[in-house]
Amino acid sequence: MSSELRKPIISGNWKMNHNHYEAIQCVQKLAYILTKEDYAEVDVTIHPPFTDLRSVQTMIDADELKFILGAQHCHEADSGAFTGEVSAAFLAKLNVSYVIVGHSERREIFGETNEAVNAKIVAIQKHKMTPIVCVGETLAEREAGKTHEKVLGQVRSALEKRSVEQIKSLVVAYEPIWAIGTGKTATADDAQRMISSIREEVAKISSANAAESIRLQYGGSVKASNIGEIMSQPDIDGVLVGGASLDAAEFGRICQYRLRPLNP
Ligand code: PGA
Repeated sequence: MSSELRKPIISGNWKMNHNHYEAIQCVQKLAYILTKEDYAEVDVTIHPPFTDLRSVQTMIDADELKFILGAQHCHEADSGAFTGEVSAAFLAKLNVSYVIVGHSERREIFGETNEAVNAKIVAIQKHKMTPIVCVGETLAEREAGKTHEKVLGQVRSALEKRSVEQIKSLVVAYEPIWAIGTGKTATADDAQRMISSIREEVAKISSANAAESIRLQYGGSVKASNIGEIMSQPDIDGVLVGGASLDAAEFGRICQYRLRPLNP
């Protein structure tokens, strides 16, 4: 269980799934499942595609829903000649609070570099939103014994030019790439070990204070059946959920992990 200082955070990354009609249905179902006790215990962030954001934001406002609105990506400039991109400034205007940055699909398919990830983090924080920074190794890197080098390198680069206060409010998601969408999960022990190394690295490059406050998630094939074990680890403060967040009932069970025994 994560420290008292850090409220657990469970995030649903819908990726390029659910058009805005489907988004409304999914959010309505989830609103029906989750209770005010759930929101008191856990921050629940939903990250729909850009085209759904306005619809979901309107629902959250009209029905006073307690989900936190998130996005999956942004451009670091406030505006300009960047066809197809959406700025952090625009997201902030839509009451988006969390933005995923450097997801492995963005890094691998769209060539996002560590430098670009850092620039986006700066832009997101400039607009008073919270970045969820994704880091993780490929299977080949893991098999070559390079997991720490890769992941901690990504963390160091992401945190460049950030003050202790800025680092304290960040979320970092450790997502081993071989576990994303594959049904393979890192064992809870394995995830705990890597995530505790990330916390130690944050202490080294920033301060003990920052390391104590930063929230660290695990991501990669998280489901209702494995969430209990993952959340029981001392350094894991939450999860970033892809496939299983598309189904409101399953995602609801994940958000309510604390209501069920560890090994039912
Ligand atoms: P998954 O995706 O839960 O479908 O493995 C996680 C992610 O990509 O954030």
